[in-house]
Amino acid sequence: MSDEAIKERIKPHGSLKMAGAEDASASAGADGPRSGETVYNNACVACHGAGVLGAPKLQVAADWQPRIDERGMETLLQNAINGYNAMPPMGTCGDCSEDEIQAAIDYMIEGI
Ligand code: HEC
Repeated sequence: MSDEAIKERIKPHGSLKMAGAEDASASAGADGPRSGETVYNNACVACHGAGVLGAPKLQVAADWQPRIDERGMETLLQNAINGYNAMPPMGTCGDCSEDEIQAAIDYMIEGI
């Protein structure tokens, strides 16, 4: 095999690797944390939309403010992670990170 032929065989392989590297960084972005609104709509709305079982409702200050005053944001997050009375651990979002739970809480109390 000549040197030219070998270069020809190597070249396409090299450019394939480049394309693969670009794909990897693109999907890393797509797999990043979901927004609080997305998590809420996937996992929390079933109870927190209508106030099922006494769940504090989306962006209703009268439901959220007393909890924030009484326990503080840090405890609210811990209760959402660990569960609290009828509030299930992680709000049933099995693949949520703690940051995504925090984002969902931020969304639920936005503007109150
Ligand atoms: C199966 C119904 C249900 C789902 C699903 C649910 N919650 Fe709740 N949640 C509740 C109920 C009921 C309460 C009120 C519990 C109480 O005060 O006794 C609550 C309370 C909370 C509180 C306040 C905790 C406190 O200390 O006062 C937070 C924060 C919270 N939920 C976050 C979430 C998040 C975030 C999600 C979605 C990822 C979620 N919940 C999904 C039922 C649910």
